[in-house]
Amino acid sequence: KEKLTAPELRRQKGGTPLVWLTAYDFPGAQLAEEADVDVILVGDSVGTTVLGYPSTIPVTMDDMVYHAKMVRRGAPHTMMIVDLPFLSYVTPEIALQNAGRLMQEALADGVKLEGGRSILPVIDALVQHEIPVVGHLGLTPQSIHRMGGYRVQARTADAIEALVDDAQVLADHGIIALVLEGIPDRVAQYVTESIPVPTIGIGAGHQTDGQVLVFHDCLGLSSSYPKFAKPFAHVRQAMLEGITQYRREVTERQFPDETHSYHVPDKEWQEFWH
Ligand code: KIV
Ligand code: NA
Repeated sequence: KEKLTAPELRRQKGGTPLVWLTAYDFPGAQLAEEADVDVILVGDSVGTTVLGYPSTIPVTMDDMVYHAKMVRRGAPHTMMIVDLPFLSYVTPEIALQNAGRLMQEALADGVKLEGGRSILPVIDALVQHEIPVVGHLGLTPQSIHRMGGYRVQARTADAIEALVDDAQVLADHGIIALVLEGIPDRVAQYVTESIPVPTIGIGAGHQTDGQVLVFHDCLGLSSSYPKFAKPFAHVRQAMLEGITQYRREVTERQFPDETHSYHVPDKEWQEFWH
């Protein structure tokens, strides 16, 4: 299987919708690659889905490198984009250093960062140094304190205009794709039709150039779901049933049975015993 390249990603604008899925570890990455997703995103959502934090704010660069390395080992043939976490791109120099770690230590194919015009110097530095950059606008979880919670964004004329401008500016500055999260479907469609790079929606309706979903939301592994998430399997329930059954069979001495035990020939056992 051939890994998607940045130019191919751009060329898929307006074509068959791109399928992005997050992954955080080796088995998750193997499954995503086997299911032939176009792009794996190692999201800083690892903070809430795997690390047990209440938001993505506590996630560190070391966390991202650690998880991205596992994902790369599980999915060597899939384009892997890795999130730059909170405060890891406050200046172009710091961003270069941190994006460099993701590219060189974890073998990322590109990085994603949240924000518009205010992070242009950072975007420029990364693009100038040949690091593929994915943008992220709308509901940007690293801005939880400014937003006052996870709220749908771009619902007023002014906010829509600001988002459209940010998308245009990011596209002009060389991003390879743009994630649009938590915005009205019409706004996402308008942005999609306004810029030449693929838009990847999550909670942004069905008119974007692709969709991204959090692994745990996709499979029904989460304990609660945002409105936009649709579980396509019920893995949490299956896991709970499995553990409960294991517990029952151990307490009732049904497990392990003959077929799950090792045996010694009678002759050897007699010899030992006498
Ligand atoms: O961290 C993440 O998983 C993301 C996606 C939801 C876009 O940024
Ligand atoms: Na993220």
